[in-house]
Amino acid sequence: EVMDQLLGVHAKEKQLGQALGIDHCLIVAGDSANLSKIPAAMGKLANETLDLLLPQGESIIAVMGGTTMAHVANALTPKLAKKRRLIFVPARGGLGEMVDIQANTICAQMAVHTGGEHRVLYIPEHVSEQTYKPLLAEPAVKEVLQLVDKSTAVVHSIGEAIPMAQRRDMSAATITMLKQKQAVGEAFGYFFDQTGQVVYKIPRIGLQLRDLEQIPSVIAVAGGSNKAAAIKAYARLAPKQTWLITDEGAANLILKGA
Ligand code: BG6
Repeated sequence: EVMDQLLGVHAKEKQLGQALGIDHCLIVAGDSANLSKIPAAMGKLANETLDLLLPQGESIIAVMGGTTMAHVANALTPKLAKKRRLIFVPARGGLGEMVDIQANTICAQMAVHTGGEHRVLYIPEHVSEQTYKPLLAEPAVKEVLQLVDKSTAVVHSIGEAIPMAQRRDMSAATITMLKQKQAVGEAFGYFFDQTGQVVYKIPRIGLQLRDLEQIPSVIAVAGGSNKAAAIKAYARLAPKQTWLITDEGAANLILKGA
């Protein structure tokens, strides 16, 4: 019976990959939307996937923030840093997150859990564009951005457009615009509609969506029936080599064609 279940899951993962046009999908049982232990299970799979994908030697891993990423950080283990030098860097600065789920914090946690290193982007999350721009000339900021440029792996999540805009304290005018343009999802500060068209981008430095094409290992971790539409839409933008780690809550809805 266990075998049957496994085969069932693998068949579903293949189906999902085909439906989304993504090379690899992994699905954990359950729905993050109503079971709080599911993100941790996705985190474990992210740990295994990184172990599979990262070569020996040095890897610079660019990571994003968010609650899912916080679970991923907690699930990483020292085996990842065996025969590897891992440097975790924030992929993009200043998206407007709370301290405990900022990319800087996630990087630090990933370093703690693996025994790797991390770097900090010294740019406040909540800062106007005018204040933000001159900071980019700071040597300490430049140095980290150069590392981001050299990253060979990226780990990120995907969010629902409006909840993410609200969480990041975006202006009422911008939120109205996002609704008008029917934004359904958000990743890396890019907001997109269900056809995968980018309708708004938070003007921030660091990794840009188009850079992902060049990066050998890209892992997207996002689950929950609430995120199904966002994940489906993001798949239209995602580079093909993306490994999507999700849950049944999202996968079942996507496969139903919702
Ligand atoms: C981040 C992404 O990793 O996760 C964001 O960069 C995304 O673009 C966010 O919206 C989702 O956050 P959460 O808290 O739902 O995991």
